[in-house]
This record gives sequence, C-alpha cells and structure tokens, in this order.
Amino acid sequence: MQDTQIADLIAAEEKRQREGLELIPSENYVSKDVLTALGSVFTNKYSEGYPGRRYYGGQENTDPLEQLAIDRAKQLFKADHANVQPHSGAPANEAVYSAWLEPGDTVLAMELSHGGHLTHGAPVTRSAQLYNFIRYGMKNIETGEIDYDHLRELALKHKPKIILAGFSAYPRELDYEKFAAIGKEVGALLMADMAHIAGLIVGGVAKNPFDYGFHVITTTTHKTLRGPRGGLILSKGIVGNPLKKPEKTLENIPTLIDRSIFPGMQGGPHMHVIAAKAVAFREALQPEFKGYAAQIVKNAAVLAEELKKHGFNLVTGGTSNHLILADVYKSFGIDGGVAETALDAIGLTLNKNAVADDTLPPFRPSGIRLGTPAITTRGFKEEHMSQLADWMKQAVDKRDDERALQEIRKQVVEFVKSFPLPL
Ligand SMILES: Cc1ncc(COP(=O)(O)O)c(C=O)c1O
Repeated sequence: MQDTQIADLIAAEEKRQREGLELIPSENYVSKDVLTALGSVFTNKYSEGYPGRRYYGGQENTDPLEQLAIDRAKQLFKADHANVQPHSGAPANEAVYSAWLEPGDTVLAMELSHGGHLTHGAPVTRSAQLYNFIRYGMKNIETGEIDYDHLRELALKHKPKIILAGFSAYPRELDYEKFAAIGKEVGALLMADMAHIAGLIVGGVAKNPFDYGFHVITTTTHKTLRGPRGGLILSKGIVGNPLKKPEKTLENIPTLIDRSIFPGMQGGPHMHVIAAKAVAFREALQPEFKGYAAQIVKNAAVLAEELKKHGFNLVTGGTSNHLILADVYKSFGIDGGVAETALDAIGLTLNKNAVADDTLPPFRPSGIRLGTPAITTRGFKEEHMSQLADWMKQAVDKRDDERALQEIRKQVVEFVKSFPLPL
C-alpha cells in the first residue's frame, strides 16, 4: 500500500484486535472471504435501482450478485422479501418508519434505559421529531419481564401505527406472541429490530418474530450475523413494482420498503458491501453456524454466572442471549466509565451503559454492557469464561494501580495468542 499513514493505522488496528479481547456485544470478527468481497471491485459500480430495474448500464454482474444476497437473506429468515441495500441499521429503521408512517403518527417502542435503541425514538433523533414515540418497559427489573399489560394499555390508548420489538441492551428473550396479539388488537404494523440477535435467530437459538406474525424485521449485518457493516430489511407480503406508488396496506409492505430505501432515502447501493453480505449469509446458512450461535449463548450464560460469583450485580439476574449488563455502581460503587477505562487498560473492550431507570447521568452511567459473539468467533468456550471474569474483577479492584493493570494486560496478550483472528 502506497499510503503508509493509512497502512500503519490498519496494521495498528489489526494488532489491537489481535492482542485484545472484544467484548462489545455488537461487534464481531468477519471471515477472510467477507473481507475479500468487501475489498472487491464492486465498490466501483453504480447500480441505482433493483435487479432488472437499474438506472445505469453494465449490471450483468451486480444483478445476479444482489439477487443472490436477497435469496440467501430470505432463506435465512424465512421472509417473503429482503431489501439488502440499507447502508446500516439506523437507515433501515428510518426506512421502515417512512414507508409506513405519516408525520405525527405514533410508534410504541421499548424504553431506551430498559434496552431500546437510539433509533427507537430517542429525542435527539430526526425520527423522534417526525413521529410520536410512546414507551413500554420492564415490569420487573429483577427478572427482566416486560410489562405486557401496560404495553396493551398504551396500545389501546394511543393506537400506534407501529409496535416495535427489539433492543440493544436487554439480556432476555421477548414474548413475540404477546406483542402480536396486542398488535392485531389495535391494527398496528409489527416490526422487530433484531440487529443484536439476528445471528442467534438464524442459528436457531433465538425465536424468529416471523413465526409469531410479525410483518417486518430490520437488522444490522455486522453483529451476531458476522457480516460486513450494513443493514437489512426483511418482510412478509407481496412484492410489487417498486416504481409504482402502492397503497399503504400490509400486502404492499415489501414494495413500500423498497421505495422507501430507493429512491426515498438512499442513492446507489454499496455493491461491495452487498457482495460481502451475500458471503456472510452463505456462511450463516452452513450447519456450523448453528454451533457458533449456540456457543455464543452458552458462553454468555457461563460468563454471567462467573461474574456473579465475583460480586457483579447483573441486570435481570443474568442472560438468555449473547449480552450481559452489569450494574457496577450497585456492585462496587463505581460508574460504568471507570470500569470501562480499567478494563480497556487490560485489553478487554466493552462499553459503559445505562441500566434501567439509572440514577447516574448518561455520560457516567451505572452499568457496563458486554457480550460473547466476538470471543466465540475466536474459539472461546465455557471453560475460558472463569478466567475472563477473574480478570474483570481484578481490573476493577486494581483500577488505580497502573502497574498491576499492565501486568494483567500481559497475561491477556499471552492468553489470546491461542485464539487467532479469522484472518
Ligand atoms: C437494535 C439496534 N438497532 C439499530 C442499530 C443501528 O445500527 P447502525 O449502528 O448500523 O446504524 C443498532 C446498533 O447498535 C442496534 O443495536
């Protein structure tokens, strides 16, 4: 590479990833094949439109490429339709809102401090300025159970056009059947944002909302699904001509979504990313992916138990998926930022996070969020979790002792040598 400044930064980042342990639950390590597709000549091509209906010539390779990505995504999620063009998870959600809603319409979504995502109506987002977001949350923070009675009351009162299930910081499974019954009662579109657990769904260790009557699933492709950074929208319904304006009916959802992505809010699709998505979807269709997904969940469950033994107070008492939320303020009287910094110093990367009804400010919240998708890709198994929990406790205890932290870091670097990156 001619550009040595960038080459050096790439090498440094590879070293950081190789020598540290990635515990951010929304991150992962992609395969060499995904990286190859991402760095391919498809980045040179303009392909506005959809397969067979483009605004530029020279589409003899992009059309079959996008079609393969679409077909594989549909097969993975048991969907009638897939739009593989969203640049990321946030625009995927925005595209569904604008496909189905008029300004001022109501969306019923998960309370942010109970695990919902920014794009589910945080006041700082454009969606929150356009639409009216109402919140449901947990009934019992100890068990993580959602308050479905309150959710129904809110739905009956506010008549939302969309009921949104999904989260980025909630360690339990949702009861889609209950969501679906309430959605049907009030005639709302049932949307699931599965960005975090898409890989668990296709790996068969989490429920698929389509099996319970949901109409739309949005997801990122770069978290548990282990693909390139990107978004994906799946839906049930009939695929019509995206160039003809359809009525806003449930049957027309696929067409409404296609129009909402292009020309509604995006220009040319990123064909190199779509190539990498197609590679990742094929990988996720292989039998081994089921083993990977199951291992993520097993590792998280054991890690949660090990952390509890060390005195970490876990939100909802543990985990049923890939992520863990620990209230370090309750456990050790420190805020999440202090814990994040101490863990960073020993080479364990995770993020500070608000816990439900947090009493500390968002910039210094009470919790940390961590998960097992990336370390599972590197080959970590249940038997390695006690070592991880042990390091975490040591880092918290010795947070003010730089030399002790450096000593632990050396141990981490040595340990991870047996767990190579998939490069
Ligand atoms: C549930 C959920 N939805 C949407 C997103 C947004 O995805 P992106 O960062 O790719 O825009 C995230 C990202 O963390 C997420 O967790």
